[in-house]
Amino acid sequence: MESYYIEGGVPLRGEYRVKGAKNSALPILAATICRAGVYEIYDCPKIGDVFAMLEILKSLGAKTIWEDDCLIVDSRNVDDYAVPESLMSEIRSSIFLMGSLLARGGEAVIYRPGGCDIGRRPIDIHIAGLEQLGFEVDILDGKIRCKGICHGGKITMPYPSVGATENLMMAALAGKGDTILENCAIEPEIVDLQGFLRNIGFQVFGAGTDTIFVKGSYGNSLSKNSIERMYFVIEDRIEAATYMAAVIGTGGRAVFRNIRPNIMKSVLDVYERMGAIVRTSDNMIELWVPKDLKNAGIVVTQPYPGFPTDCQPQLMTLCAKAKGLSTIREEIFESRFEHKNQLIKMGADIETCGKNAIIRGTEILHGREVKAMDLRGGAALVIAGLMAEGTTIVRDAFHVQRGYEDLEKGIKLLGGLIERKRESKKEKT
Ligand code: EPU
Repeated sequence: MESYYIEGGVPLRGEYRVKGAKNSALPILAATICRAGVYEIYDCPKIGDVFAMLEILKSLGAKTIWEDDCLIVDSRNVDDYAVPESLMSEIRSSIFLMGSLLARGGEAVIYRPGGCDIGRRPIDIHIAGLEQLGFEVDILDGKIRCKGICHGGKITMPYPSVGATENLMMAALAGKGDTILENCAIEPEIVDLQGFLRNIGFQVFGAGTDTIFVKGSYGNSLSKNSIERMYFVIEDRIEAATYMAAVIGTGGRAVFRNIRPNIMKSVLDVYERMGAIVRTSDNMIELWVPKDLKNAGIVVTQPYPGFPTDCQPQLMTLCAKAKGLSTIREEIFESRFEHKNQLIKMGADIETCGKNAIIRGTEILHGREVKAMDLRGGAALVIAGLMAEGTTIVRDAFHVQRGYEDLEKGIKLLGGLIERKRESKKEKT
């Protein structure tokens, strides 16, 4: 087990290039199965969830190799359609294999996926969508077997689930007929998956709007003829928002490159409301806070383009030291306030009531030993450590490493004092 050791109170300054998006890379990696080929995926982040996805691809017969930040996936010899249960439980994104295996060969066996413990996270929308596409889905003791002929059709999702939109986009590629998906999620990462699928020869249109059209390619040679393609993963807006929170929380100033301001509007609006000055150009964002942070007012997490749930814990940390009262309402996941008690240990004044967290800003956060409970909550604790007086130890760094490539390196680059260390038995509590 590893921990972050942080000395707080140093303003982060400098320049940071945002890495490729975790939530784009994961469905795209699953999508390499849709068609036999050799794919060069550039800007693929080297994070725990990606490594777990690669283990799954390998278990199905794919070969994978890293060349710097380019990941090469050779899916030509994928000949299995069953994902081992032990690998399924590692990451939530393993669910995408259902869509991509169906696109490749019309059959998939998976188990209920694992992932961050931030609520129940059912998969009913995925399953109902697959059944409406024409697949037969059998669920027995957590084992999900899916096969049959996909006839396509018009499917209206009851909620714009990101994962279900992506899964059904891939499964519908196996259609004898075409598919229209309605009430889709419109996240930029879905547009990126569409970009990849089109790049490898499929016809998918409309991602980024609530209606997506998928041309069925059953019986044509797409899944049999192998191809070679390269693809660049889009930038990680959540990684960017996390570093930005660390910059404004420490009273620093930084320039972020490789980030389009338009995909971060809801986050930048809140940071500006809290007193940040934000300067943007095409692919760059610079921000700083001239004075103390102001409260965030009321912030509600929502599907894109609303304020992202994946930035909620980081925002809570900022609110903990901002002047006045902030309210955060978590509308996406039911248990995403797990970091709250750790922040309280550091001196934060936070009360939760159902979906709401009420945060009264305090002047000082104190360095303490705290524990990451999940990915974004862990990142929020690292930010709190950078903002606090004294030393903070964030245990269970592996949660953070699932979604951030070398977070400590990035923070050090901006002048922050942080080390990632393996816990010795003596240090462990
Ligand atoms: N939901 C259902 N039934 C379903 C699917 C979803 O009830 O069949 C519910 C979920 O329980 C949740 C809500 O719908 O309450 C939203 O879930 P969604 O399916 O949209 O999320 P996801 O696909 O599981 C992705 C990201 C998450 C991010 C959410 C929301 C990936 C790999 N994961 O999850 O990322 O929080 O969308 O934006 O894309 C993270 O990066 O930390 C993370 C958790």
